[in-house]
Amino acid sequence: MDTVRIFDTTLRDGEQSPGISLDVGEKLEIADQLARLGVDVIEAGFPIASQGDFEAVEAIATAVEGPTVAALSRTGFQDIDRAWEAVRHAAKPRLHVFIATSAIHMEKKLRMTPEQVKAEAAAGVARARGYTDDVEFSPEDGSRSDPEFMCEVLQVAVDAGATTLNIPDTVGFAVPEEFGRLIAFVIENVRGDYVVSTHCHNDLGLAVANSLAGVAAGARQIECAVNGLGERAGNAALEEVVMALRTRSERFGGLTTNVRTEELARTSRLVSRLTGYPVQYNKAVVGRNAFAHESGIHQHGVLADRETYEIIDAKTVGQQAAQIVLGKHSGRHAFADSLAKMGLHLQGRR
Ligand code: KIV
Ligand code: ZN
Repeated sequence: MDTVRIFDTTLRDGEQSPGISLDVGEKLEIADQLARLGVDVIEAGFPIASQGDFEAVEAIATAVEGPTVAALSRTGFQDIDRAWEAVRHAAKPRLHVFIATSAIHMEKKLRMTPEQVKAEAAAGVARARGYTDDVEFSPEDGSRSDPEFMCEVLQVAVDAGATTLNIPDTVGFAVPEEFGRLIAFVIENVRGDYVVSTHCHNDLGLAVANSLAGVAAGARQIECAVNGLGERAGNAALEEVVMALRTRSERFGGLTTNVRTEELARTSRLVSRLTGYPVQYNKAVVGRNAFAHESGIHQHGVLADRETYEIIDAKTVGQQAAQIVLGKHSGRHAFADSLAKMGLHLQGRR
């Protein structure tokens, strides 16, 4: 596959960020924009979690055209039935089933033995597969799980019908080389026909790097969120993984995504406005300073040739190109340029 699928979880993991609460109308507005952006999958919510989540997933599944619409579910049948009830109206529905596979989660949270977890995964995926052919399975806390045991669980999931295997770095613990090796280990050890996916959290600021390491190792779906929203320090930022793959495509064997990058800035602004989460000024790709230059040397360079200090053409992400900001660090070139834009031309030495 020469395309990396972009699985957007802004409306599920992103909405789990402390303080964010979107109503159905707001979720629909974001889902519409995500469809315009061209993501492959919208994870619309976790229907068993609340009546509001159920209604939002149902509304998005019914109204939004284009992407696959996914609903999250634990392995319990009640969860899966509820998720299906919400998502079944979608033209392309997906059920995303998860259960934790790390020792700490199995012992302390689930209070299940590894064998019980395996049986739960098999039963949950089989139940989901009874509803739809598009079933994703995630071993939660995958990066802190015993890789051999995790692969045993993934194998029963594939045997029960899972078509996407998503490997979560739930607590943002992995480093890129290690996460890449984990993805390669899955591909080597789990038999069957499936797409491998990454789901990386940003606790160490490595979510994007880990996702890209996963792609380099063979993953063909990235789970990410607009503006990097998500639990705690967030998920891999959609705009960053997309632009890294596009800008450094040669490093990824020419892989592409289906995202219309000119919609990135607009999507970021919409999500920021509706969630109330500001975008940091210096945020890559969508921050207001991502294409701004204040220091004299940089201004001189950019005025001569934008590419001296910019690796992305701002227009390709819907931003304004090479903004020259006059400030303490500015030099003569920017000063003269600003005056010229006002119709004032300096005479004498420049
Ligand atoms: O971080 C995580 O493990 C998750 C799973 C539900 C995929 O969000
Ligand atoms: Zn997550």
